[in-house]
Amino acid sequence: MSKGGIIARLPKVDLHCHLDGSIRTATILDLAKKQNYRLPASTVEELRPYVRVPLDCKSLGDFLKRFEVFYPLLTNSSAMERIAYELLRDCSAENVKYLEMRFAPVLQRTGELSIPEVTEAVIKGVLRGEKEFSIKCGIILCLYRSTSLEDSMETARCAVKYRKERVCGIDIAGDETRYPLDDFVKPVEFCKKEGINITIHAGEASGPQNIRKAVEMGADRIGHGISLIKDRKLMEEVASRQIPLEICLTSNVHTQVVEDYDRHPVRDFIKSGVKVTLNTDDRGVSGIDLTYEYEKALGLGISLEELGRIIEAGAESAFLGGIEKETLRNWIANEVNNLI
Ligand code: ADE
Ligand code: ZN
Repeated sequence: MSKGGIIARLPKVDLHCHLDGSIRTATILDLAKKQNYRLPASTVEELRPYVRVPLDCKSLGDFLKRFEVFYPLLTNSSAMERIAYELLRDCSAENVKYLEMRFAPVLQRTGELSIPEVTEAVIKGVLRGEKEFSIKCGIILCLYRSTSLEDSMETARCAVKYRKERVCGIDIAGDETRYPLDDFVKPVEFCKKEGINITIHAGEASGPQNIRKAVEMGADRIGHGISLIKDRKLMEEVASRQIPLEICLTSNVHTQVVEDYDRHPVRDFIKSGVKVTLNTDDRGVSGIDLTYEYEKALGLGISLEELGRIIEAGAESAFLGGIEKETLRNWIANEVNNLI
């Protein structure tokens, strides 16, 4: 079988996938039509440049600005349910078997729509998608860096409330260059005490001190973590404690935290024994899928066998408990071994 054929058939695991960054452009257009909302363009082709990463994107902040075009369309339950459902459909079409989607419900909250209501809408979309497609999905609620401590506490409480309804963890998202992690110690401690899994965007656009802080706060996984390459001692610690990194190659190129794919430190991480997983980050805004990311990884000289181990590491790092995790791990390992 050709490498392309194998990649298509490989079971896939995506642990770092922003729901709001993964909307189909056609859906953005349709939501605008239904809500009588004026977008800067009226066809998919014309709208694309407004909702995709700009060619001259210079930073994470620049990248995140793209989301502002369609955020106003998401402040209602039916839109959130729909995009969650469609994400499961799209992921399942490329053989993603386990997905953890994340979003910050505080960004969709309005006077008429509460954080728990936003979360319930997404749960509904996920459950509908799981019934129709051959995919299992967890939900990670993001605390968002530009919002208040009270907003973060409310999101943390919401994660506890819906932990038996697919919510499997929390994250801290947004622009890490502008907001320190110290502001999030309290909600993270609260979640830790409640036994909620924690992942934190850290060392994506900032230095390794943010990764150190995330580890001290008890992060079970690190989102990106690419500046780990600048601190050998910390890298050894992350490797020996087997704290997984959620690597998103194309996103890192788009936000210019690495100059190009070839300068991405992912191969050094693998060589140093760091537990690496491969993920998409923002499928819609970046215009990619996980198949594309796996192909990019092979293009960097990562072998098919290593890719197989990366997929297995994804299953091992899933925010699932006991028997569910064991079942996923065994099933993924078996499928990978049959293909590679
Ligand atoms: N939200 C969506 N994409 C993000 C990223 N790459 N970093 C932080 N927050 C995000
Ligand atoms: Zn992210």
